[in-house]
Amino acid sequence: MPELAAHARDVPVNQIREITEAAWATPGAIVLSIGEPGFALPRHVLEAGMACLDRDETNYTPNAGIPALREAFADRFREHNGVDIGSERVYIVDGAQQGLHFAMSLLLSPGDEILIPNPGYPTFAMTGRLLHGVPVGYPLYPEHDFQPRIEDIEALITPRTRVLILNSPSNPLGAVLGEELTRSMVELAQRHDLWIISDECYEAFTYDVPHVSPARFDSDVPGEARVFTSLTLSKTYGLTGLRIGALVCPPGLERKMNNVMESIVSCVASPSQYAAIAALTGPQDYVSHAHAHYRANRDSASAVLESKGIPFLSAQGAFYLWADVSHVSGGDVRSWVRTFLAESGVSFAPGTAFGSIGEGWIRIALCAAQADLVEGLGRLPSRS
Ligand SMILES: Cc1ncc(COP(=O)(O)O)c(C=O)c1O
Repeated sequence: MPELAAHARDVPVNQIREITEAAWATPGAIVLSIGEPGFALPRHVLEAGMACLDRDETNYTPNAGIPALREAFADRFREHNGVDIGSERVYIVDGAQQGLHFAMSLLLSPGDEILIPNPGYPTFAMTGRLLHGVPVGYPLYPEHDFQPRIEDIEALITPRTRVLILNSPSNPLGAVLGEELTRSMVELAQRHDLWIISDECYEAFTYDVPHVSPARFDSDVPGEARVFTSLTLSKTYGLTGLRIGALVCPPGLERKMNNVMESIVSCVASPSQYAAIAALTGPQDYVSHAHAHYRANRDSASAVLESKGIPFLSAQGAFYLWADVSHVSGGDVRSWVRTFLAESGVSFAPGTAFGSIGEGWIRIALCAAQADLVEGLGRLPSRS
C-alpha cells in the first residue's frame, strides 16, 4: 500500500473523542466530556426538514445556499451584533467545522502560520495542519484569567503569519472577549495585515455579558476588510447532526467563495437548509430554555467546585467549566481522566486536548441533566 500524505499521518488523536468513547463503553458512566446539547429538537424544525423531503426537493442548491436561509442568517447577525453584513456575504456550510476548513482553504498557502488559542478548540490546529499550514499557539495564561494579551500575540507574528483565530465565547474556557479587547484584536490584525477567523459557535450563550463580534470593528471596504465569521446552528438549536452553519466572508470575496465551496462540498443538504430556516425564523423557545439550563448548571457546578476548594474559571459564556485538578492529576491529566472514569464512572475532557497550557485542567461540559452533573462533580476529590 502506498503511504498516506505526511500531513495526514501526523493528524493527532482527538483526546475528547478518546475519553468520550471510553465513557460510552462504560455502563452507567456520567458523561461530562462532550458538548452535545441533549434537548428534544423543536417540532417545527424537524417538520421543515421532513417537508423538504416530502416535496422531493432534493436537488443541488446554489453553492452559497438557499437565498432565504442566507437572509435569515444575515437578519439574525444584524439583530444580535448590530452589523449589517447583507445576505450576499453569507455562505451556508456543513456546520462550523466545514466553515473553518473553508476559510482556512481560502487563506493558507503551504507553510503559512496560523495563530490559534492555547488552550483552544482542537480542530483549529488539526485543520490548519491538514491544509499544510503551521499552527502557532498563542498563550492564554491562568494568571490573566485565560484572556489573550496583545503583546503575547504580537511577539509570535512572523513574515509567514497569515491568520489569527479568535473564539469567543470560548470552548473550552467559557471565557468571553470584551469589547475593548475585541477591538484591539481587529486593530492588531490590521497593523500586521492578518486575516481573522472568528469562531462564534456559542454566540447565543453568554451570561450577563454581551457577545461582541469582531466584524463590528472591521472595515467595510473590499480589499481592507479582513474578518471571516464562522456561525453554526449545532449549539444554538442543538442541530449537531444536521450539519448546518454559515461562513460570513469579508466584502469583495463573494465570487471566490463560490469557487472554493464548489470544490469542497458543492452545497449543503437541502433538508438541513430548510430545517435551519425554520430554526432561525420560528419560535425561539428552544434557545431560551437551553440558555436557562446552561446557566443553572453553571451555577450548581460552580457551587460544587467551590465547596471542594477546586479552582475554576468563572464561565461567562458557552457551556463549559474549566477546572484545575492539578492536586490529583499528577502532571498527566490525559491519563488521569481515564483512571477517574474507570474508578469513579465520570468522564471529563482532559485540558491537554486543547493545548499544552491545559495540563492539570479539565473541561466540564454543562449539557447534562443537573442531577447527573452535581453527582459527577461530587465524586471529584476535594483539594485540601
Ligand atoms: C469552538 C468550536 N468550533 C467549531 C465546532 C464545530 O461545530 P459544528 O458542529 O457546527 O461543526 C465546535 C463544536 O464543538 C466548537 O466547539
